[in-house]
Amino acid sequence: MATASACSTHNGELIFFVNGAQVVESKPDPLMPLVEFLRTKLHLTGTKVGCGEGGCGACTVMISRYNMNTDTVVHYSINSCLAPLAAMHGLAVTTVEGVGSTKTKVHPVQERIVKAHGTQCGFCTPGIVMSMYTLLRNEPLPSLEQLSTTFDGNLCRCTGYRPILDGYKTFTKEYCEMGGKCRKIKRRKPSYRPSICNQSIGDIEDLVPYDPADEPKFPLDLKVNHEKYHKTSLTFRTDHVTWFRPTTLDELLDLKSTFPQARLVNGNTEIAIEMRFKKMKYDVMIATTHIPDLKTLERNKSGITIGASITLSRLDTFLKQECGQMAEEETRVYSAVVDMLQWFGGKQVRNVAVVAGNIMTASPISDLNPIFLASGSVLDVVSRERGRRKIRMDNTFFKGYRRTEVKPDEILLSVTLPATHKNEYFSAFKQANRRDDDIAVANAAMKVVFHDDTNIIKDMALAFGGMAPVTVMATNTTEKLRGSTWDSDLVSTACSLLADDLPLTPDAPGGMVQFRKTLTLSFFFKFYLRVKSKLTITLGVEDNTAPTDESATQQFVANRKWKSSQVYEEVEVGQPITDAVGRPLVHKTAYQQATGEACFVDDITPVEGELFLSLVLSSKTHANIINMDASEALSIAGVVDFISVKDVPGQNVLHGIDEHIFATDKVTCQGQVVGAIVATSHTLAKKAAQIVRIDYEELESVVTIKDSIAKESFYKFSPVLQHGDVEEGFRQSDHVICGEVSTGAQEHFYMETQTALAVPREEGEMELFVSSQNPTEVQGVVAEALNIQANKITVRVKRLGGGFGGKETRPKLIACPTAIAAAKLMKRVRCTLEREEDMVSMGTRHPFLGKYKIGFTNQGKVMSLELDLYSNCGNSLDVSPGVMERALWHADNSYRVPNFVIRGYLCKTNRTSCTAFRGFGAPQAMFVAETWITDIAYFLNIVPEQVRQTNLYKNGDPMPFGMQCDKGNIQHCWEECLDTADLDTRRQQVKQFNRENRWKKKGISVTPVTYGIAFGLWELNQSGALVHIYRDGSVLIAHGGTEMGQGLHTKMIQVASRALKLPTTKIHISETNTTTVPNTSPSAASSCSDLNGMAIVEACEKLLSRLDPVIQANPDKTWEEWIRAAYEARISLSATGFYKVDNLHFDWKTSTGNPFSYLCFGAACTEVQIDCLTGDHEILQTDIVMDVGRSLNPALDIGQIEGAFMQGYGMMVLEHYKVSPDGTLLTRGPGTYKLPSFGNIPTRFNVSLLKGSSNKRAVYSSKAIGEPPLFLASSAFFAIVDAIKSAREDAGCSAPLRLNSPATAADIRMACTDRFTQQFPLPPEGSFKPWFTVL
Ligand SMILES: Cc1cc2nc3c(=O)[nH]c(=O)nc-3n(C[C@H](O)[C@H](O)[C@H](O)COP(=O)(O)OP(=O)(O)OC[C@H]3O[C@@H](n4cnc5c(N)ncnc54)[C@H](O)[C@@H]3O)c2cc1C
Ligand code: FES
Ligand code: FES
Repeated sequence: MATASACSTHNGELIFFVNGAQVVESKPDPLMPLVEFLRTKLHLTGTKVGCGEGGCGACTVMISRYNMNTDTVVHYSINSCLAPLAAMHGLAVTTVEGVGSTKTKVHPVQERIVKAHGTQCGFCTPGIVMSMYTLLRNEPLPSLEQLSTTFDGNLCRCTGYRPILDGYKTFTKEYCEMGGKCRKIKRRKPSYRPSICNQSIGDIEDLVPYDPADEPKFPLDLKVNHEKYHKTSLTFRTDHVTWFRPTTLDELLDLKSTFPQARLVNGNTEIAIEMRFKKMKYDVMIATTHIPDLKTLERNKSGITIGASITLSRLDTFLKQECGQMAEEETRVYSAVVDMLQWFGGKQVRNVAVVAGNIMTASPISDLNPIFLASGSVLDVVSRERGRRKIRMDNTFFKGYRRTEVKPDEILLSVTLPATHKNEYFSAFKQANRRDDDIAVANAAMKVVFHDDTNIIKDMALAFGGMAPVTVMATNTTEKLRGSTWDSDLVSTACSLLADDLPLTPDAPGGMVQFRKTLTLSFFFKFYLRVKSKLTITLGVEDNTAPTDESATQQFVANRKWKSSQVYEEVEVGQPITDAVGRPLVHKTAYQQATGEACFVDDITPVEGELFLSLVLSSKTHANIINMDASEALSIAGVVDFISVKDVPGQNVLHGIDEHIFATDKVTCQGQVVGAIVATSHTLAKKAAQIVRIDYEELESVVTIKDSIAKESFYKFSPVLQHGDVEEGFRQSDHVICGEVSTGAQEHFYMETQTALAVPREEGEMELFVSSQNPTEVQGVVAEALNIQANKITVRVKRLGGGFGGKETRPKLIACPTAIAAAKLMKRVRCTLEREEDMVSMGTRHPFLGKYKIGFTNQGKVMSLELDLYSNCGNSLDVSPGVMERALWHADNSYRVPNFVIRGYLCKTNRTSCTAFRGFGAPQAMFVAETWITDIAYFLNIVPEQVRQTNLYKNGDPMPFGMQCDKGNIQHCWEECLDTADLDTRRQQVKQFNRENRWKKKGISVTPVTYGIAFGLWELNQSGALVHIYRDGSVLIAHGGTEMGQGLHTKMIQVASRALKLPTTKIHISETNTTTVPNTSPSAASSCSDLNGMAIVEACEKLLSRLDPVIQANPDKTWEEWIRAAYEARISLSATGFYKVDNLHFDWKTSTGNPFSYLCFGAACTEVQIDCLTGDHEILQTDIVMDVGRSLNPALDIGQIEGAFMQGYGMMVLEHYKVSPDGTLLTRGPGTYKLPSFGNIPTRFNVSLLKGSSNKRAVYSSKAIGEPPLFLASSAFFAIVDAIKSAREDAGCSAPLRLNSPATAADIRMACTDRFTQQFPLPPEGSFKPWFTVL
């Protein structure tokens, strides 16, 4: 092997600019991700890491580069987790810190996301700010269309996206759909405020206008010395890699010839993934980004030639321009590329990824390769040994999995895409699980050429991705179809030929085999219709296509025009200005979040000597541990220790139950913590943890609920809830039907992964910074693990980057090993999980199976229910009993069921323990309820809303366990929702649409929610607060809740402002700390505001009563003067508050009691449109009415409703958590696990808070909000069911429809049974091993 010395024209210094300051690295690690450099070397921690694989956008930064040819500076957003440091030479990087700051000046892009309430936990916010900032730097007055595609590479798990878009809409040309008149809108009703046209963020005059002239100047050095930076070859060397950046083709050829195994690199979007997940190592890398010969982009007589190093964004812009200038008939391939690029990756990926990277990766699901194959594109390749040659991309091009006709020594120079002509038609198709930023399940490109002025096929090319280990061409089909006429007979012939041409075995990798096969036919049918309609116009041939078929050709588009409204009651006229309760204040630290100043645990600057811990996780589902050997890992320089059960000074069993800090002799799931490596850096610790050797003896495992039932693997807890006489109820019913339905696991995907920092102190004390919803639990288990008293453990929580229940009990799994290591080594130790580790080890929402028998009358009145609920709990009990109890209590959702028996079974399986997740079992059980409601409706052939309405609780109706359904607010929400959504009219419109369209169907559904508030563990229904007043009159509050994005601290300050009659500016909350308020309950069960708010009020009232004599003595003095006087009078200015919820009890023996403090209600109406041929869908409109009592802060409450709705939509429609039959998790990051994205929000999203509601049982008459609205997303699921029903009716299918949750594109497509799906019947269960299983 040659040594790396061929090209040494540079002194090895890496020079670039960050936020205007020059950075010079004399010995750069070329492959270090830019984000790591920014965070660890420059301590610019505003840029976050949410995934490390280009899938979430949290790490977005802006790159600016001088273009000498045009004398302009171009700006583009990138994922800094994928960008190698070496690629930064000569560029300017802007991070969120460089955009604006609370200490100097907040940038409009930061201000508007704040004022629009577009931040919650704030972890995604810097990335979103950077995407928007980059758009503005290129386009100071962007269009809505540009805005709509700007965020396709950014995810947010909290907000539901709507407020972010509304905030940023204000930068667009189209801002204010009403031509600026919106501010003159009259109020609909006194003190009732329609928040149309972004009124929620205040008047436009209040916003700082954006002025591009205020932007920092591009570094002069980079401009003046452009040639030096970009026309000089570079070499960076370290002991593990050499990075070359040649600037001429000759140089590149020499290098490639000297280092034949060298990896060429452009955007690094593929290579970074290979290195991260496949552990690929490259010792020589050659960047081809600076070679002019690879940058051709031109139209010529052969077509359009695209240089190998042309980025996808550049290609997109160029093709759009060219298409605008060419005759339509010539552009059909180019338009197909443009169409495809709108769904290719996220913007940050497209900004750096190049065409060559896509071709040469040769991925079987590449989006561009089918187009190149079907169009007969020609590659230009070159090597020193072989010279230059052209390769036509045809069915011989791909030689095998990730192998092509291009030889390893050859370099791809360009690809030429031919133009089409008059008689030639071309289309490309892609179907993914999610439209935005997702890899294809299957894709295709199709070309047909006709004999001149006829509809007789002269030539044809059909290329498919996702159907084999390579992109394939259906050559047999095309050969046989040559000479055929393009008419309706063609479709059936082509479909049977295609089915033979594209075989897939039932156990094919990737699964969804029937769906993928069906898609190929669906794509062809769409192509047939598109071409047919063109031929009708050009040739005037008779069009015998049914008008209803045309819907097959309509496409969903990326640039939708969303609208929204948020309606809430304003505070009463006369409410003192100092009283902040009920006002829509922005999140207390929103400005810090938007400027990147908000500090999360992993942002805390490491001190000298700090150590990093990486967990060693089980790779087996169920196995005995035979041997553990960390010697190789320990031999690496910088690796300090291997920590395992032998190092636990105290208890290894967590809380003395069934979970261990470190596995001892056995593992019972993949991802279980076996040990931990401690090293001097995170990267080193991670690397070493991966080579700790563990020998296992594998045991039989139980993975699914069905396995568990078959093997009777249950936990010993099986609650039963019963009422009335079930058998008698069935006898009184006109009909009795049975069914079963399941819901899948849902990954929390909080944007900040689990993280802990342990700091050992003197006297055995330990201070822990943990991203935990439950500091008291962490304190307790760490004390037990270290065998010390809890009074020596301090747990501090400033904020969490999202929790959703996933940080209620799970943080102890990393806090304990970290604390044990810190105590042993007497060093600060930090552990932050990688996304993959987090997903494999931290648990999910419980999958449920519901088996029901339901009796009802001819009018749809429910008489009796027998229901068995099974939950897949995983390998430990965790909170599963509580989850099942809540599921039982909510199994009626909002319906009166006079007789019932509901049994809960907890399945013990070899899966990572399931845990709390927003809704805590209730959404799963309510989902089963909505399924039997829908069954009844379809059985009786009436609309489901009629059955819902018939059975909906009326005011005062008894609930299953004796509580009364109070105040009739479920009826109010329901009626108001039907009214605002105009359900009757829209249902008629939906019917009309469905009559007119065969392949696009609309569906509409309204679902209610009734949700009980209280912890099921009664002792948790308590809280404490500590309020200090300092001598300057400022107030500091501590309470038991944690701030995880829900705006708890903001609301608590508002509560204190009313209690103390003080403006919020005088009140501060710093953090949650076990030393200020002890024995706190977890921030969960939606109870934080209720519990902590009451405790704060009590503390404030104590203080006010102490101050009262001082105030009475001098009523005209100021607050500050009273405080001064009180201090001088030696009055204590510090008080604690305590609150407990009374009257909570439940007797499982009699199924009676009062399990909830009160009930929350809501209703949502959602309309969807589905593509019956592909399973794709879009939410057209959602209207929500939610009862929040008297809102403490309507902006935050609406944020919770929208965020919960989108998270619920993820649970029920989009998020497919896949596990193989042997228990291996297949979805380990955003690349494979798809959260709802910006593109998934309802096109119209209207939220209103129920008028005139109040609630005696919570602080200032408010109601809880975190969990209840999540289930409203079931309206989207059942709207999809409604749409599918119409498709099945058209197909003459009367078989009952059974759709499990989540209803993925595959499920929707296959449920829309038709002649295409019928070609691929499902092989009998058990005859093959599926790729993934139903948990
Ligand atoms: C988050 C994310 C989303 C993605 N979404 C999609 C998607 O929707 N559709 C899709 O098809 N792909 C997708 N990809 C895959 C990837 O982005 C594309 O394949 C991209 O085109 C790769 O380009 P690159 O410049 O980053 O390649 P690199 O990673 O730099 O290189 C990829 C390969 O190409 C080789 N190569 C590069 N240039 C040359 C050359 N001139 N001659 C010979 N070999 C060369 C490299 O050696 C390497 O093997 C996604 C990737 C990520 C991380
Ligand atoms: S951290 Fe870079 S995209 Fe997620
Ligand atoms: S605010 Fe977006 S992830 Fe929390």
